[in-house]
This record gives sequence, C-alpha cells and structure tokens, in this order.
Amino acid sequence: MKKDFLSILDIDRAELFEILQDAERLKRQKRAGVSHEVLKGSTLAMIFEKSSTRTHISFEVGMNELGGHALFLNAKDLQIGRGEEIRDTARVASRYVTAVMIRANKHSTIEELAQNATIPVINGLSDREHPCQLLADILTLKEHFGKIEDLRVAWVGDGNNVCNSLVLSSILTGMDVTVATPKGYEVSPELVQQAVSCGGMVKTVKEPEKAVKDADVIFTDTWISMGDEAERTRRLAAFRGFTVDTALLRHASPDARVLHCLPAHRGEEIAGDVIDGPQSLVWEEAENRLHAQKALLVKLLKKEIISLQ
Ligand code: CP
Ligand code: NVA
Repeated sequence: MKKDFLSILDIDRAELFEILQDAERLKRQKRAGVSHEVLKGSTLAMIFEKSSTRTHISFEVGMNELGGHALFLNAKDLQIGRGEEIRDTARVASRYVTAVMIRANKHSTIEELAQNATIPVINGLSDREHPCQLLADILTLKEHFGKIEDLRVAWVGDGNNVCNSLVLSSILTGMDVTVATPKGYEVSPELVQQAVSCGGMVKTVKEPEKAVKDADVIFTDTWISMGDEAERTRRLAAFRGFTVDTALLRHASPDARVLHCLPAHRGEEIAGDVIDGPQSLVWEEAENRLHAQKALLVKLLKKEIISLQ
C-alpha cells in the first residue's frame, strides 16, 4: 500500500520520531560528506500551482542528494492548466515517476491526486495544511531544546494553513499550543476540537501577550498568504498589534525562540530585529526543510538509510 503525506496526521507519533531521527542522521552524514544515495533511479514530480523558494529548492536538492531526480512542473505549463482532469494527471504521472509533491490552491486537488495515484503524494502546501513545514519546525525545536514534549508554544497571527498543521501536530508531539489570532482570522474551531479530542493540548486566546506568556517558542507567519493579496489593506488593519517584536517577546520565557516558515515581511508579522536577532531559529528552520523532507521521502519510498560508521 502506498503512503501519502497530505496532513501532518498522516503519520503517527512513532513515524514522526523515526523521521526526526533519520533527518538528524542524514544531516550529520551530509555535514561529514558521507553520501546516502538510497533513492537512485527514483523521480519526484514537483507540481506547483503557486510560487515557492524553500519547498522547490529543498525537495529538488534533497532528491539529488538521495541519488534520485526531481522534476519541476509549473501547473500552468501542464495540461491541467488547460483543464485536463487531475485524476488523469495522477494516473499518467504514476506510470512515469516514483512520487509526486504538489503545492495546490485547494486541498481537494491534492486529495483527488492522491486518490487516483498509485504512488505516494506529498502536500507541499495547500489552503488547509503545510505538513512538510511542521516536520522541519519540530526537528528545529528538538535540536534546540533537546525535547519537544511539553514545550509551551504560541502561535501569533493568522489562523492559516501552517497554524492548522501546528495545531494538529500537538496530537503527535505533546507540545502545549496556544493560538492568538485577531477577530475574523481565527483557526478553525473544528480543527482545534479535533486536536483536543485526540489528546492535543491546544487553546485559543485573543491577545498575543496571553499566548506568549512564559512561552518557549513563538511561531508566526505572513498575514497575507498566497491568494489573500486582494485583502491586503483589510488584513494589515486587522492584524495591528500582532507583530512579533521585542516588546511582545518580553512576555515570553527569556530563553524563548522564534520560528517563521518564511517568506517574512519585516515590520508586519515580525520585527526585523527579532527575525535577525539572537532568539530567531528561522534560518535553521529553513535549512531543516531539506533534512526533514529527505527523511520523509526515504520513509514514503520505504528505503533504509545507510548508517554512519
Ligand atoms: N516555507 C515555505 O514553504 O516556503 P516557500 O513558499 O518558499 O516554499
Ligand atoms: N501561509 C503561507 C505560507 C507560505 C509558505 C501561504 O500560504 O502563503
């Protein structure tokens, strides 16, 4: 049976920890110059309906480092851009490549692709979730804090796709997540309910200061996600007071660290001196997209990593 990765909940806690361990091992091997070409002969198709820097580069470089090949496909240039059905693209791609990573406007597009493909499908961001981002984020926190269980995590900003994956991930990680969003941009209450009913520790508050109080980690993301550009003026007004800046960080633990999936907008969701300052883990987080996704690919394609001697 093929395994997809459409949601952070498509893996269980044990699989998450295996991926983290493999990612750490792959990272060490890369630093030591030890090659790990365990995906020789494999091809990853990467379909993009939206722009990308990190997801595109990290998957392409990751496949190369694993000895495989990655194929960049702009959805506009594929026949799906002219109306070919996604299920037909799924069937055809399954005959050429080993796995597909897709960044789509609608989560339902990714689900339809996965339902009709006989190969693993990876969500490279949808309107619902960004599960690959969370793998990298959790890896970054594990490396920095030495553990993830019981970390006090604050989300400050838009209740968006990345926030959704963070909320759901609390079921796997045991992190204690508090989400602060302005009125009208809340995280879905059904999703919070789902997380809580499955043992996740998640609560929602209105004030960023409350979410950040004694927090170990503060997450934020753009106030204007891809597709939200027409609402820019309204959103900038609604999110006033939600900037992660040094004043807000004073409410957190003195050792708190800040994550942002990028791209960032200094002076909007995050202050320049925070993202570029000593409490930022943002650049490690971006690097970890590579290591975490390589471990994910190895897992989905059911290969073993050659261990370090
Ligand atoms: N964080 C992230 O997914 O970045 P890109 O949009 O550049 O891929
Ligand atoms: N929430 C952002 C994440 C980008 C990686 C967006 O959807 O545009």
